[in-house]
Amino acid sequence: MIVMEVRLIRRHLSIGTNLLREFSGYFFGDYPCIWEAQGGLGRLINMFILSAMLPSRYSAWLATLPLAIVSYFLNPTISILFLALFLVGLRDLLQSRHAILRNYPLIGHLRFLLEYIRPELRQYFLEDDEAPLPFSRNQRAVVYQRAKGQNDKRGFGSLLDPYRPGAIWLNHSNAACAPISEGFRVKIGNDACLAPYESSILNVSAMSFGALSANAIRALNRGARLGDFAQDTGEGSISPYHREEGGDLIWEIGSGYFGCRDADGNFSAERFAAQAVDRQVKMIEIKLSQGAKPGHGGVLPAAKVSEEIALTRGVEPGKDCVSPARHSRFSTPVGLLEFVAELRRLSGGKPVGFKLCIGDPIEFMGICKAMIETKIVPDFIVVDGTEGGTGAAPVEFADHVGMPARDGLSLVHNALRGIGLRDSVKLGAAGKIVTGFDVATMLALGADWCNAARSFMFALGCIQSRACHTDECPTGVATQNALRQRGLDVADRAKRVASFQRATVHSLFELLGSAGLDSPTKLRARHFMMRDSTGQPVPLSSRYPEMESGALLDAESPAYAALPAILRSSWEMARAHQFSGAVPASR
Ligand SMILES: Cc1cc2nc3c(=O)[nH]c(=O)nc-3n(C[C@H](O)[C@H](O)[C@H](O)COP(=O)(O)O)c2cc1C
Ligand code: SF4
Repeated sequence: MIVMEVRLIRRHLSIGTNLLREFSGYFFGDYPCIWEAQGGLGRLINMFILSAMLPSRYSAWLATLPLAIVSYFLNPTISILFLALFLVGLRDLLQSRHAILRNYPLIGHLRFLLEYIRPELRQYFLEDDEAPLPFSRNQRAVVYQRAKGQNDKRGFGSLLDPYRPGAIWLNHSNAACAPISEGFRVKIGNDACLAPYESSILNVSAMSFGALSANAIRALNRGARLGDFAQDTGEGSISPYHREEGGDLIWEIGSGYFGCRDADGNFSAERFAAQAVDRQVKMIEIKLSQGAKPGHGGVLPAAKVSEEIALTRGVEPGKDCVSPARHSRFSTPVGLLEFVAELRRLSGGKPVGFKLCIGDPIEFMGICKAMIETKIVPDFIVVDGTEGGTGAAPVEFADHVGMPARDGLSLVHNALRGIGLRDSVKLGAAGKIVTGFDVATMLALGADWCNAARSFMFALGCIQSRACHTDECPTGVATQNALRQRGLDVADRAKRVASFQRATVHSLFELLGSAGLDSPTKLRARHFMMRDSTGQPVPLSSRYPEMESGALLDAESPAYAALPAILRSSWEMARAHQFSGAVPASR
């Protein structure tokens, strides 16, 4: 026993000589725990010998005790405060969860405090103006300025390097025209639709009540009403806060069928029909996947499933609210389209479409084959990119799963052209849309309109602290905490939401004018240039070539033969009755 304790003392002595290295560990977090779990005498020796060797570590904590005694005679309230600090330090010393607190009682809390405010410190003092984290300071600034109706111009010149690989620019015309009418609307609804929707060219992307606070939902919806655009409900269904303001809604139906499910979580036609016919609901969107976590599903933890959220979603309060990774209502492309037709019928003929992030191109080709086979054509498709936002997603999914928006959009646009149905399906696109130029780029690649999520969050006051998954949003945007959301003034933020959308659409129309175009429908990839990885400027259309209309329909045609091999093989492998594993038996 004595030998063991002597070894312990020697070990701690050697630790004393490494004080510097140890100190850096406290701040960078990779410090190996020197305070191993030991009982009895070992623990006492650890506590007292170490403190005798390194009194400075404990001095702040130990100082609280005499300060408590002295201040007792001067001001008992302050004395209680010092006593409380002493007890905090004592608890730090005795607990075994955090090595830092155990070794640095009381003052170790500074490390946690600094870590807590690290994003804000970085953002305010260290962040580069153009560093995208994921949105640069300049991107956020333009949203804040447009939302507040402030001067959004830049003096002196661009901060961007036009020679960097990937740089994109619009070819202006020497016959630029004045900014054209901004009353432009996109008609969504094909021949099978009885109630087409005249949509704005920029809408609020899907974000649920649950991910967002009640006040954020209210402000977005009132903003949508003021600015005559639409708000996508997200998969959390239609909450009372969406209804209060009366702005246009796109009702998203996810795999949890929230707001239209039976007690077992299956789709309920009756419950769907009851809400879908509401005049405020303009379109129905089946969510197949979202760019930030395609194929993952999601869970709203029990703690966040309040009575209100439970009522909105049709689930039990206080229990985990699960969105499965796939739908239970269908499992094949044909099944998806039959669901589209069913929802169209149940909603009284409203436009019905689906949202997805592209994964294997074969699967989207399978949906195209199913359109041909069933003759059921969705009114719209929204293509989301892997760069899109989320309330919470596993890092592997956010970083590495799913196709980026431009590539996915181009694939969907071309596949629909290839089967001759491009004119019957309107395309929406989402993924880091901030400025009019971002919208213009998506339109050039085939989109008819765009959705934005996080830029509207900026308009609400989001400061990109990236704590949306913690329920501790500092701005009241993404939290269910009543006190925190009080900070979000609905009337003021609704005006900002409308103002941001209006100014962004205005900038889009100014860009169109500079290119000499009198309609957004005339924008094509050939109107843009981009710098490839070698630094050479190439037309955007060479990177994203447009497929000839009907090219996929005749395998004998020269147009089909001219397609890239990957598109031809994807088309050949695609099956209308099978999603995954849609490959020939020979493979
Ligand atoms: C807080 C938050 C919640 C979201 N919730 C949903 C959702 O319920 N359903 C959905 O399809 N997409 C959801 N999204 C994804 C967006 O609708 C959209 O697809 C994507 O974020 C677009 O990217 P952006 O944020 O870069 O505009 C959410 C995004 C955010 C930021
Ligand atoms: S302020 Fe932070 S937590 Fe709140 S919405 Fe923005 S990124 Fe999310």
